[in-house]
Amino acid sequence: MASAFRIDNLCFNYPGSKEDVIKGISFEVREGEVFGLLGPSGAGKSTTQKIMIKLLENYSGEVSYFGRNLKDINKSFYEEVGVGFEMPVHFSKMTGLENMEFFSGFYKKHTNYKDLMERVGLWEYRNVMVGNYSKGMKVRLNFVRAMLNNPRVLFLDEVTNGLDPINARIIKEIITEYRNQGGTVFLSTHLMNDVEQLCDVIAFCVNGKLHEISTPRELKLKYGKRDIEIEYKESGITRKEVFLLDGIGNNEDFQYIIRNKEIETIHSGETSMEEIFIIVTGGAL
Ligand SMILES: Nc1ncnc2c1ncn2[C@@H]1O[C@H](COP(=O)(O)OP(=O)(O)O)[C@@H](O)[C@H]1O
Ligand SMILES: [Mg+2]
Repeated sequence: MASAFRIDNLCFNYPGSKEDVIKGISFEVREGEVFGLLGPSGAGKSTTQKIMIKLLENYSGEVSYFGRNLKDINKSFYEEVGVGFEMPVHFSKMTGLENMEFFSGFYKKHTNYKDLMERVGLWEYRNVMVGNYSKGMKVRLNFVRAMLNNPRVLFLDEVTNGLDPINARIIKEIITEYRNQGGTVFLSTHLMNDVEQLCDVIAFCVNGKLHEISTPRELKLKYGKRDIEIEYKESGITRKEVFLLDGIGNNEDFQYIIRNKEIETIHSGETSMEEIFIIVTGGAL
């Protein structure tokens, strides 16, 4: 797969800040994948996104977009990328639909935003002024706005922040569909749930540095507990036993339970993304 973004030894500091906010990070976002930057507040996630979308320019290191230096790419870049900022940006005196019509007018390519508004539950509120929208409604409209030009690369900063679980799931479904149709996503978030369910690649970001870059599956295998926990009923009482995954096929005690007992639950030892984050970053959450 082509490299959508390649970032090499990126450093950045805001005017007046004492030390670098981004301290020499390198990573690659490949076309067609969802890349998740995960980290606590203040880690440098939004700053990284702003550099990648050409909002902040005085960085050192290299950023390339589909093999070209980002600094050499002109405004046509914005035809190709979609950006969801952390803070929703809309005209509050215009309705939701008017906002989408207005912003859509900037682009040559368009997505079916009416359909998207319907899916995120905003179609019935399309004629309400955005100033009267709830926080969650503004967040959903912000997401639709990011998709307006049917972008080649979609940037989403804290995309589910402030959403209830049902709406968060709908948005994640739309992101997954977009990716399955070949879209590329750069997502930054402090929410473990987002990365676990959405991302093909996860990078842990703390204090301007990246710790581990890996797939959710590799992370789970690497940091997961290799055991199986089994709960079964015996004389009306629930009992629990833990077996090592290695050699489970020849473990007679395990097999005896499987064959003879009323099993209630079986779980392989899962380490949550939260635990993995704490292990990888040394507790910097
Ligand atoms: N405009 C700015 N001017 C000065 N410092 C900033 C500015 N924006 C962010 N910072 C600082 O940069 C660091 C990283 O911020 P940010 O990229 O927003 O982190 P995150 O998105 O991971 O929460 C923080 O210490 C923050 O205070
Ligand atoms: Mg942020």
